[in-house]
Amino acid sequence: VSVADKSSENKYDNLLAKRAAGAVARGIGAPTQKMIAFTYGLPDEDSFPFNDLAAAATKTIMEDGKTIFQYGAPRTLAAYILESLRLEEDTTIAPTQIAVTAGSSQAISLVARVLLDPGDVILCEEFTWNGALHIFKNAETTVIPVEMDEGGLIPEKVEAKILELQAQGIKPKFIYTIPTFQNPTGSTMSVERRLALLDIAEKYDTLILEDHAYHGLAFEGDTPPTLFTLDHERKLGRVLHCRTFSKILAAGMRLGWVAGPEDLMVRLTGLKDDGGTNPFAGYIAATYAQENRLRNHIQDLVKIYRQRRDLMVAALDKHLAGTGVTWNVPAGGFFIWLKLPEGLDSGALLPKAQEAGVNYLPGTSVVPQGVDGKSYIRLSYSFVKDEEIEPGVAALAKTIKESLA
Ligand SMILES: Cc1ncc(COP(=O)(O)O)c(C=O)c1O
Repeated sequence: VSVADKSSENKYDNLLAKRAAGAVARGIGAPTQKMIAFTYGLPDEDSFPFNDLAAAATKTIMEDGKTIFQYGAPRTLAAYILESLRLEEDTTIAPTQIAVTAGSSQAISLVARVLLDPGDVILCEEFTWNGALHIFKNAETTVIPVEMDEGGLIPEKVEAKILELQAQGIKPKFIYTIPTFQNPTGSTMSVERRLALLDIAEKYDTLILEDHAYHGLAFEGDTPPTLFTLDHERKLGRVLHCRTFSKILAAGMRLGWVAGPEDLMVRLTGLKDDGGTNPFAGYIAATYAQENRLRNHIQDLVKIYRQRRDLMVAALDKHLAGTGVTWNVPAGGFFIWLKLPEGLDSGALLPKAQEAGVNYLPGTSVVPQGVDGKSYIRLSYSFVKDEEIEPGVAALAKTIKESLA
């Protein structure tokens, strides 16, 4: 998270908008050459479907060039998304209920724009995606963390927090959650918890922003229905839902989407100032997705990431058993979340790990203000090569054991 550096002088301070004071660019993970990078949730770069995307690009440019090089939303991609929701989740929504966005980052920014005034309060998981924290900081919002466990966000804690705020005359505008293969903890909320969270949103007249970034990347078992689908079935209208093509296709295409109740979406798209998101990439993605190519590609990705998850869990078992370090085994997504034994600080440990040749994200990078993340480490297995996983975990384990000693 880019922390606002109010102290550093800027030549244009007297001209800047208040929200720009201290603003700094969001860190996008730049992998280092020398180190084994468990740091970033970047998609595997060898898996981008180069040939099929090249063919889809050529076909779309030649057959549909006048459309894709023109202003406008990528209508064929929106149609693909609606069709997928209907086929895969039995959820039928109107075209006016979705907007294609420049990654889900823009989707979250738009939700912030349409719902948040400076000083507003939102709730989120105590450990969460740092990109979203960056967006909420730029929206001048107060982000209140809510306790989680291995099953994700705890609805009773959400309700307790809402009541606590209510006593101070504060109503949170929405609850930002990543209920499935959560970043950074890898946890997935049960259906029971999802239903309880919806009840809470309804009871206290608030909304839920469901970030479903790791959609499709399930390694085993049934993935619970999304909050969006459950909300749709119950006709509550409490959920805004965003997804991305970054993890299942190519992050550089900058494609994502947001869906929600019609009345909210009309305002949200009213604040979207860009003349249509990336029609070039959007139409190409839609051509590529035809004939089940994207669905089949996701199945290939699942095999790759499942294998890496298994390699990482096996390496953790081998090198860290008996040290007091604990971790989860995620059922999908990109992340394993380590808890260090009492007294170890993941920030202090990092330079030593880097010296040993391995990089990770310390828990302090993924927490809203007021949460102490120093006992935690996020390991991502998405971007490393299979053969780097064991040596990387071995190097990390050696560093941890030395610090324990
Ligand atoms: C939970 C979560 N949401 C959203 C995103 C953003 O993805 P994009 O803006 O590329 O769609 C990420 C990427 O790391 C993520 O982990």
